[in-house]
Amino acid sequence: MLVLSGPNLDRLGKREPAIYGKATLPEIHEQLAAAAALRRAVVDCRQSNHEGSLIDWIGAAADDGFSGILLNAGALTHTSYALYDALRGSTLPTIEVHLSNPEAREAFRKDSLLAPACVGKVAGFGAASYTLALTGLLDRLLGS
Ligand code: DQA
Repeated sequence: MLVLSGPNLDRLGKREPAIYGKATLPEIHEQLAAAAALRRAVVDCRQSNHEGSLIDWIGAAADDGFSGILLNAGALTHTSYALYDALRGSTLPTIEVHLSNPEAREAFRKDSLLAPACVGKVAGFGAASYTLALTGLLDRLLGS
């Protein structure tokens, strides 16, 4: 599984902990690796503050042998038609992930441009959103 996190998520742990929690992104990546190992799956976790890097990784994901994508695109969720196009162009199932529940926050966060290109969404469970999304994606791909 390819796990992508977008802008400002490298600052988890320090960034608005009341909203995003205290766990750092490396800690979340460790949790994901452990959860994946229990299902005999492997995660490759990456973060970038740059839209183009996320687009490059999504575009190459199928050729690189991944079978699904977890994507927390940060604020690009609400702004990026280019990421939407990248997801539409990918043959891989993608789950949209958010630590917070964007729909319960500021108005500009209520719309996800990416949701129509994803098979599902997990939001509002803090760091656990990532592991819950992994479970959902593995269940979908492997059967529960
Ligand atoms: C976020 C929600 C986005 O609205 C925000 O811009 C982020 C983080 C989340 O995980 O809750 O950067 O994707």
